[in-house]
Amino acid sequence: AQLNPRTGALNGKHVLMTAGPTFEPLDPVRGITNRSSGKQGFAIAEALAVEGAKVTLISGPVSLPTPEGVERIDVRTALEMFDAAHAHLPADAFIGVAAVSDWRAQAVATDKQKKSANSDELTVTLIKNPDILASIGLHTTMRPTLVIGFAAETQNLEVYGKTKLRTKGADAIFANEVGDDKVFDQDTTNMMLIDAHGPTAVKRLTKAEVAQDITHYVINRLT
Ligand code: CTP
Ligand code: CA
Repeated sequence: AQLNPRTGALNGKHVLMTAGPTFEPLDPVRGITNRSSGKQGFAIAEALAVEGAKVTLISGPVSLPTPEGVERIDVRTALEMFDAAHAHLPADAFIGVAAVSDWRAQAVATDKQKKSANSDELTVTLIKNPDILASIGLHTTMRPTLVIGFAAETQNLEVYGKTKLRTKGADAIFANEVGDDKVFDQDTTNMMLIDAHGPTAVKRLTKAEVAQDITHYVINRLT
């Protein structure tokens, strides 16, 4: 990653983040997950640490090294990510970059499910996971000064991004286009920032550039 020289602009600031996918087990050998390499969240964590922030990075299962100076907490499920995030409040800023699974199995089988025990169809009931970003953006006693979310959209970036800003109590949403191979395993993404000032134009940025933009945004808003 291309990083600016250390300025210490975020010395003494605690930034809490989520990154990567979550994994929701169905049985001991299977589960459902979301596509996310974790690269974007880890790049942001690194850029913030370079500026002197104390960064707590709650990460789902990814195969990435921990950026220097970052405290990393590994979790697997959305419920574990939720608990770990709340356990690490208070923070000056929260940034939700994780691709959290919206659903988990209502019942997790304790044994491997045999195909012979099932007919040609298998029905699994999924229930909704809690929204980690909203729980922090709307926190009544420990809301960080700055709460930032991402929005992964295949269409209507601005409309859906604005709705997420409002319903999750966030100060800013970085909305990016996903689908086909627009983001996953790619180095660039089409991104729009939405905050109280409205939306910016869509820019095509590398993950390193997004990390720099967000770091500058955090510095402007916290200092
Ligand atoms: N998010 C979260 N907890 C969840 C779901 C999402 O913290 N259970 C966060 C993500 O980390 C991201 C933001 O909410 O910062 C938006 O995630 P996204 O999946 O785009 O939005 P959803 O609210 O889940 O809506 P949908 O998937 O239906 O578009
Ligand atoms: Ca979602």
